[in-house]
Amino acid sequence: MEQHDIDRIRDLMEFEAGRTEPPKDFPALPDLPGGRYTDPRFFELEQQHIWRKSWLLASHIDEVPEVGCYRLWENAGQPVIIVHAASTNSGGDSTGQINAFYNTCSHRGAPVVTDEFGKRPLLTCKYHGWSYTHSGDLIALRDPEDFRDLDKSCRGLRPIRCERFGNFIFVNFDDDAPSLLDWLGPIADEWQEFQFEKSRLSARHIWDLDCNWKIAMEANTEVYHVRSIHPTTVAPMLDDRRNVNTLYRNGHGRMIAPTPANMQGAREARVQDGPTIDTVSELGRTCTQSYGVFPNWVSPLSHQMIPPLAFWPNGINRCRLETWTTAPDWGDGPGPDLWTQNNGESLSPVLLEDTVFGAWIQKSVESWGFKGVPLSYQEARIYHWNQAADTMIGIDNIPEELRVEQVIDDRWIFPNDPRVTQMQAEKAASAG
Ligand SMILES: [Fe+2]
Repeated sequence: MEQHDIDRIRDLMEFEAGRTEPPKDFPALPDLPGGRYTDPRFFELEQQHIWRKSWLLASHIDEVPEVGCYRLWENAGQPVIIVHAASTNSGGDSTGQINAFYNTCSHRGAPVVTDEFGKRPLLTCKYHGWSYTHSGDLIALRDPEDFRDLDKSCRGLRPIRCERFGNFIFVNFDDDAPSLLDWLGPIADEWQEFQFEKSRLSARHIWDLDCNWKIAMEANTEVYHVRSIHPTTVAPMLDDRRNVNTLYRNGHGRMIAPTPANMQGAREARVQDGPTIDTVSELGRTCTQSYGVFPNWVSPLSHQMIPPLAFWPNGINRCRLETWTTAPDWGDGPGPDLWTQNNGESLSPVLLEDTVFGAWIQKSVESWGFKGVPLSYQEARIYHWNQAADTMIGIDNIPEELRVEQVIDDRWIFPNDPRVTQMQAEKAASAG
């Protein structure tokens, strides 16, 4: 991050700490309809639109490190093979092309692979032996003479969009989706300093939770709950009144909250010693800087690691939390795992505080007493996410009683920021 951006965010932290009401012209946020958490119609709209059209974190290059390595990935409810293919480019670099396909044989629809990870020269369906290359082309089948007019060239595996950001592999089921870089927009630039291309995967776990996936995720997209849910774990390390939220197009968001100076050591000690990412700026070193990437990625990035959380629906009232830790090359031995304790046996204390309470929230939102959610300015990222969700679903496709009003307009979307103008005006006024 450039120094003038750092200075602006530092100023905004003081602006946030000093304000006595939401920033000038920030809209009142109408209640989120409660049915967005409980109504099967909304759940189905999420399935058909949000999970189908968004870029989703699926894998890391360390899971498919060599040509022929594949993994079966089903977190988004679709069976997907992610496979490392020889590159088709002529640059001499024969690795690095990662492809994704439906794990559905073009013959009778059987799974082409059934193991979670593997390495094979060809992907051969074990039902009738149809064989595909790592690029998805059908190159061999048993008894081809018994098929009349079978054109192998149109019987390859059905591809899924698959793109990388550094070593992270994303998929998108929508052939018409923008590129991953377009989707991320300015975030892709902001992430350069974290060197995603050098991260090694050190831990990845799945945890079943008894709540709607958005309930679990939203606990990680605001700091309003920190003092009550995390009084001894997070609260001392995070100055929530100085948190600065930023909203980006496509429903993404960022928070940056400083760690009090006397807690800096304790913050770093959460992670075992290891190499750090030397290009990370001062804010990434001394603040909680966390990104929400629509729809389901939350990651507190730092100079020590890139540890995304991903939230996946598992029915309307259950979900799966996926915890990742990636870090710069730590050499031999096990790498860090930010999100677990007891060697991966249970979630970290902080995440336990959130997830245990999530099951309670679920029970309450299913009650007749739950109608809607009045969000504060501090929770604007949640509202912004919901606006983006409706835009992606298509507002007319949503029953009226389940829609959110589109009240946060472009003036509040990065790089616009009316807070900066207000702050400068207040400074000028107090100087004059
Ligand atoms: Fe929390």
